[in-house]
Amino acid sequence: MTVSDRASRGEYEDRGGPAIHEYLNEILDCDWSVVARIVSDDVQAIESALIELCDQSHCSLVVTTGGTGPAKRDVTPEATEAVCEKMMPGFGELMRKVSLEHVPTAILSRQTAGIRGSSLIVNLPGKPSAIAECLNAVFPAIPYCVDLID
Ligand code: MTE
Repeated sequence: MTVSDRASRGEYEDRGGPAIHEYLNEILDCDWSVVARIVSDDVQAIESALIELCDQSHCSLVVTTGGTGPAKRDVTPEATEAVCEKMMPGFGELMRKVSLEHVPTAILSRQTAGIRGSSLIVNLPGKPSAIAECLNAVFPAIPYCVDLID
């Protein structure tokens, strides 16, 4: 799920969503299908899309990209926290630690993760290069986590 005002208005090509798809295609060794969404940096829009992906589409894993920074419109972590029953702070901590090896601005991301029902939601920053950098760090724990919440 891409969170971006400009991508949602079609002013900007969404590169994050396809990068997540490509990453998962390479790493997943099971039958899976992708449900892609692009939403604006609006807390209600993000919450509604997350609820739909978890409760209606029954996604085991929801990966968001964008809206994790300190800017006024960056509210993806707040929307994630609002819809989750349990937060998984270790995901954000590890992704920031690993990202700091690539960019000193990694501390600007407030990315987090949490559980809603049987879905794990993981936030990534909006930079396409951040997708593999972050997912490489946390992916080893994802299949086990998804099994535990099923
Ligand atoms: N993490 C990685 N791995 N690579 C990056 O390029 N960019 C940082 C940070 N984390 C970055 C990163 C920057 S510049 C910002 S402002 C924050 O993520 C938040 O980005 P977002 O608002 O697009 O989610």
